[in-house]
Amino acid sequence: MPNDREVQLEILADAVRQLEESPLYTYRTENNYAAVFGEGDSQARIMVIGEAPGEQEAKQGRPFVGSAGKVLNDLLELIGLQREDIYITNIVKDRPPDNRNPRVGEIKLYAPFLVQQIEIIQPKVIAPLGRFAMEFILKQFDVFEKQKISQVHGTVIKAQAAYGEIAIVPLYHPAAAFYNPTLQETLREDILTLRQFVA
Ligand code: URA
Repeated sequence: MPNDREVQLEILADAVRQLEESPLYTYRTENNYAAVFGEGDSQARIMVIGEAPGEQEAKQGRPFVGSAGKVLNDLLELIGLQREDIYITNIVKDRPPDNRNPRVGEIKLYAPFLVQQIEIIQPKVIAPLGRFAMEFILKQFDVFEKQKISQVHGTVIKAQAAYGEIAIVPLYHPAAAFYNPTLQETLREDILTLRQFVA
């Protein structure tokens, strides 16, 4: 039996699937792609938020299942976690053409879904991956200082959600680290910051 949170998430996922007003909707249907809503434990303490689905993700309708996903899985393993232990999603729920950066209007359109996912799951820790997710989450929780990912990656930023205090731990995006061993090393160090929150 799905629990209440799972039911609410499924209703939201359905709304994303039917989001015909999205500028990415036609690209999705023309390419036989799926919307990528998010997946994982609806009771998760940790929520990881990426930017937007890539090709593999859009083909499978699941977040972080391509090369960036492999990097993410390896990082989680370092702190004894599997994907199923956390909740994984993106700001933008459809693949932008040619993996271009999400546009301001796209982020605006999909953001309410992410905000509701956070309200339903009520994670204690949010780890935005990369600049776009970090900027969105810091703004969402009224954190205005130090917005550069190069300054705040791997640090714990306390913030207040409607349901209680949360920790925001910005991380570099795993896709950026795929061909960059130095960044991979930084990510391996930064992910250890999350270990204190693993129950
Ligand atoms: N990059 C992202 O930001 N999200 C995914 O789901 C995959 C790659």
